[in-house]
Amino acid sequence: MLHEIEPACPHAGVCGGCLWQHLRYETQQQLKRDAVNLALKEAGHAEQITSIVPCPDPFYYRNRMDYTMGWKGEVGLKKKGSWNHYVDLTTCLLLDKETPNTLEQVRALMQECHVPPWDVKFHRGLMRYCVIRCGKNTGERMVTLVVKDLSAITHYSLRITERLAPLCTTLYLGENPEITDLSICKTFQLLHGPKYLTEEVNGIRYHIHPNSFFQTNTVMAGELQKTVLAFAGTPRSLLDLYCGLGFFAIATAKQGSMVRGYELDAQAIELAKINAALNGVADRTNFEAGAIEKLLPIISSDETVIIDPPRSGLHPKVLDTLLTAKPKTIVYVSCKYQTFVKELTQFKSLYRVEKMEALDLFPQTPHVELVTKLVLR
Ligand SMILES: C[S@@+](CC[C@H](N)C(=O)[O-])C[C@H]1O[C@@H](n2cnc3c(N)ncnc32)[C@H](O)[C@@H]1O
Repeated sequence: MLHEIEPACPHAGVCGGCLWQHLRYETQQQLKRDAVNLALKEAGHAEQITSIVPCPDPFYYRNRMDYTMGWKGEVGLKKKGSWNHYVDLTTCLLLDKETPNTLEQVRALMQECHVPPWDVKFHRGLMRYCVIRCGKNTGERMVTLVVKDLSAITHYSLRITERLAPLCTTLYLGENPEITDLSICKTFQLLHGPKYLTEEVNGIRYHIHPNSFFQTNTVMAGELQKTVLAFAGTPRSLLDLYCGLGFFAIATAKQGSMVRGYELDAQAIELAKINAALNGVADRTNFEAGAIEKLLPIISSDETVIIDPPRSGLHPKVLDTLLTAKPKTIVYVSCKYQTFVKELTQFKSLYRVEKMEALDLFPQTPHVELVTKLVLR
């Protein structure tokens, strides 16, 4: 078919990392545009987008990958559609060109130290994830080996450092003792380098901890930030809900707004404060940790609110609070348009859509970021 191409990666089609490599990049954008428009239409909205802001390079765009260990000793990603079968990756076109060597070093470590991979089905073994993060604009690189039990691996620290420190600026061991199949760690041991990775977006420097959420496509995160700033304008007072480590809050404070940020992850809030100071806006920002549906911050009607919730969308209490407080402008950043179009129906009882833009933060996948400016009628 005209729209189909030979995938660039030898693992495409089997690997769950890239579902759309067989499609031309232009076709991917058209499919995303059509999917967003269909979802809007089916939810009864007249708004339509004309195009998707493309990613300049649809490969090597990610700044973070969570490579996982398979129970047979694979180091790579889950197979397409599977939760416990793995692809032993010899290459990966999502993160950076050093990835294959890093994964090879992890494989070698597992063999020479005789440390078994974690078995996600039977909950036994030790090595769980190799998380690699890159500061695309700083050249920094952070590697975290996630294990079930730190005490069972620390005597190999020297060997791990010898193999992996030359490939990164920061090296961690992290422990996730839970059966949950996540790379989030409870405890860390820093083996090498500074404790944070630093990334720079639109001239703003962000310190990032191994557990932190950070927009995974640095180039497009810059575009997303510009869109959000353009939609939000420069209000005197701004509220950033689901603020993470201050990605939008610091950018808006730098434009002159007084910003309050709220976020569930206490560690992210600590970083937001550090990042605000790093960028000279500590006096214009205030951050608080907690679930937004529990904190339910007081919102004044002349405030602008940025909302960037997880894929599950807004808690009903948060939506109610917004509709009761009636802030003049809401900028909604959605990483799951299917959820957003349903919430839009409720917002429309009071708000009109002034602008809408879709950005491709996730080439080779069906995902798309949708930013909407809602203005009180
Ligand atoms: C899509 S991320 C956006 C983060 C940030 N705006 C950014 O661009 O880096 C969603 C954030 O919502 C946070 N979160 C999830 N559930 C939450 C809740 N109930 N209350 C507050 N924050 C929550 C997550 O920890 C995560 O940092």
